[in-house]
Amino acid sequence: MHNPIRMILSASAGKLVFISMPTPVRKVRRRDPVRALTPSTDGPNFEPVKEVVDSTSPATPRKRKASEMELFTPPSTPSAFLVGKALFQRGSQTRQVIGRSSEREKISAFLAPRLKNHTGGALYLSGLPGTGKTALVTEILAELDAECASINCMVLDKPDQVFGLIGKEFGLFERRSNPSKERAITELNHLFFGKNNKNYVLVLDELDHLMTTDQEVLFKLFEWACQVGSSFIVVGIANAIDLTDRFLPRLQAHKLTPQVVPFAPYSADDIQEIIKSRLQTLRPGDADIPLMHPAAIRICAAKTAANSGDLRRAFDICRRCIELVEEEELKRGGSFSEFDVHLAPKVTVQHVAKVCVEGFGGVRPAERAKDLNLQQKAVLLVVVMSERRIAGQQANLTVNQVYANYSAECEHNKTFASLQFPEFLQVLAALEASGLATVTGMCHKKGLGTTERVRKSRGGGGASNARGTEGYREEYGLRRISSRVPLMDIVTALSDSDPLRRLIDEYL
Ligand SMILES: Nc1ncnc2c1ncn2[C@@H]1O[C@H](COP(=O)(O)OP(=O)(O)OP(=O)(O)O)[C@@H](O)[C@H]1O
Ligand SMILES: [Mg+2]
Repeated sequence: MHNPIRMILSASAGKLVFISMPTPVRKVRRRDPVRALTPSTDGPNFEPVKEVVDSTSPATPRKRKASEMELFTPPSTPSAFLVGKALFQRGSQTRQVIGRSSEREKISAFLAPRLKNHTGGALYLSGLPGTGKTALVTEILAELDAECASINCMVLDKPDQVFGLIGKEFGLFERRSNPSKERAITELNHLFFGKNNKNYVLVLDELDHLMTTDQEVLFKLFEWACQVGSSFIVVGIANAIDLTDRFLPRLQAHKLTPQVVPFAPYSADDIQEIIKSRLQTLRPGDADIPLMHPAAIRICAAKTAANSGDLRRAFDICRRCIELVEEEELKRGGSFSEFDVHLAPKVTVQHVAKVCVEGFGGVRPAERAKDLNLQQKAVLLVVVMSERRIAGQQANLTVNQVYANYSAECEHNKTFASLQFPEFLQVLAALEASGLATVTGMCHKKGLGTTERVRKSRGGGGASNARGTEGYREEYGLRRISSRVPLMDIVTALSDSDPLRRLIDEYL
């Protein structure tokens, strides 16, 4: 996963330079000539957008105005705040997993003999959300010398589609093909029981989405992994608390018992260590932690551990706190580029307390919504109203659908210019950080960016796990989005603004 914030590795300086994105509040016209000169924000592999040359214009290059030059020239010093916020951005690329040594050892001890002897096996990882299951497995698999694939089962319309998808992941079928379940099972059977001295390691994330009343799909997969002569290793991951109770006894009854590795919730100390380590990546080898005071980290970790233990929540708090400090500096008239990371003002205990009150209750969500900027309010309104339109189906609302509704609304309403997709994602991140919306794993959708590939073939250099712009869009676009504030509360809170009032009137 990649961060919408753009990064350039400056070859001369050998340091990471962040180019600030236009803030979501800014009105942006799609065909703004100044914008056309700025680098694209579409995904990680961004390249500067080529200037469109109008063939009717004089051949002599036009001199750029100073304001255009400003946008085009990266700041000489990266903004410490931008760098800090990027560290805790949801969906940013997975970084090194800190701790979890016992779980790491258990998983490695499970895999090592099987990979050595080319035998199969089943592993099952369970734990509450945000406890590092996916991150740890992804890190371990990236190091493996075996055919590896990972599927997020949430993307499947029906559980039995998983067989065709596994076949595609292991190269049995073309990406665009649509093999029948029976054909896929036959081919996979040959693959996993063939004598080719290879292992096939498959991670099935969000395993609970494969549950059916008769458990036929799950039984088949675990049966393959547990049978003598198989080279198929399945690693199931689930965060449904009761899945272990529902699922394991039935497997055991069929003598298909996977090895279980439970992921305990992070303690306050664990969370503190992870936050510190992330911040220290900005100044490796320096004992002084940048951007956050140690006491602020401690409080943030303690609050998170006492609430959900979900590390994502702790990261949200850190990101929002750094943003608060940034806003304070902006009010004081400070220039962001004047701070190097070690000089930047730090998040204090007071900042954490303020953000926790925002996020963990205290101020009502509708009140918090009043503090949003116009674009953020508009996007939030579109989220709650999109939910209303598909009443009963809210669980299937995707980021793509909300973006489409939002763009149509901007087009129709004409009061504010439509944000482009990466900027729209930043608005969503802001809504999440203030606890007004939640973006979770991917929604089911046929044929689009369905799997997370971590394939690395023996000696073959491995298939790519790098995604282009499309992959990036697909991945975010298919995520589920939901509001965390009732429709009527939000309507009451936001209806005093004219453009929003018009939006509300059209929907209601
Ligand atoms: N020990 C860790 N060190 C560093 N980062 C971590 C660690 N554990 C989790 N993270 C980060 O926290 C976020 C959530 O972790 P992850 O997605 O692995 O959780 P999960 O247990 O799979 O949650 P879910 O059950 O909701 O899928 C990710 O950004 C991940 O990189
Ligand atoms: Mg996960």
